[in-house]
Amino acid sequence: MARKLVLITGASSGIGEAMARQLAQKGWDLALAARREDRLIALAEEMKAQNGVDSLIIPADLSKPGEPERIVSEIEKAGRQIDGLVNNAGAGQPGYFTETEWDDQARFLELMVTSYLKLIHLVLPGMEERRFGRIINVSSVSALLPIATGHTRFSGTIYPGAKGLLIKVSQSLKAEMTGKNVHATAVCPGYTWSEFHDVNGARQSISQLPDYWMLTAEDVALSAYDAVERNKAVCVPGAWYKFLVGLMRVLPDPAGDWLISRQSKRAMKQAQANKAAAE
Ligand SMILES: NC(=O)c1ccc[n+]([C@@H]2O[C@H](COP(=O)([O-])OP(=O)(O)OC[C@H]3O[C@@H](n4cnc5c(N)ncnc54)[C@H](OP(=O)(O)O)[C@@H]3O)[C@@H](O)[C@H]2O)c1
Repeated sequence: MARKLVLITGASSGIGEAMARQLAQKGWDLALAARREDRLIALAEEMKAQNGVDSLIIPADLSKPGEPERIVSEIEKAGRQIDGLVNNAGAGQPGYFTETEWDDQARFLELMVTSYLKLIHLVLPGMEERRFGRIINVSSVSALLPIATGHTRFSGTIYPGAKGLLIKVSQSLKAEMTGKNVHATAVCPGYTWSEFHDVNGARQSISQLPDYWMLTAEDVALSAYDAVERNKAVCVPGAWYKFLVGLMRVLPDPAGDWLISRQSKRAMKQAQANKAAAE
């Protein structure tokens, strides 16, 4: 029997790369999409050597309309069907709303929202017909928490809303696909070590946060895989973020907002003091 194939967007680093490693270990063949082809090729070769799985390499810029259709058509031309989808590619849109150009916000929406939805729309009918599908949408804990001071400067004004949409869509898909063995999960990571913070220019402040605020991409990939297999619509990796999200559910919004802002300011102050002491 042919191995199942999962399409992973943004597989050239961070959470996408960790998802590829995780799924290859479980015996999935891979279709790897991102802009940096050299990285995808290196990952594919490593996964072949380590796990014996095959990969399709599809260089793509998902901020451009039409790319989801092209990706799916390349996979079909290679004679493969898509059994799993990890919608993960992404970057922030740094700067407060008034400081940014609309064209940049439009590209952000194409990458972070439209391409995710288009890919789901393209692969879902086949999954439904074959009665098997696994969809992971990489959301963010920022969609579940009041915004910490300064957060939107790095990831963008629309970022938490875009990630929130993925949660609601995953919940709707879970309901629509009940009994069809097609599972959809939104994984909501907090701060995760990856290149994300380099791209957004937030590396320096992020690297000063206490350890318990930071997740690894491998933690996120493990949680996401476990959740989609168990057909959980939403998953929050890590004990600290589970606690924060649970707390926010019982606190009134203004109290939650105050607490998160205070906590993040205190963490940054402590980190700066540690840095000064070390110098
Ligand atoms: N790191 C965090 O703290 C964190 C927290 C919550 C949620 N997330 C979410 O996790 C996802 C993955 O981010 P990460 O942390 O793993 O960051 P990362 O290491 O920077 O990875 C981002 C991936 O997305 C790809 N990508 C970016 N722009 C693209 C484009 N225009 N077209 C195609 N691919 C593109 C990048 O590949 P190329 O550059 O090769 O194209 C890369 O493979 C994102 O959706 C992010 O919003 C991250």
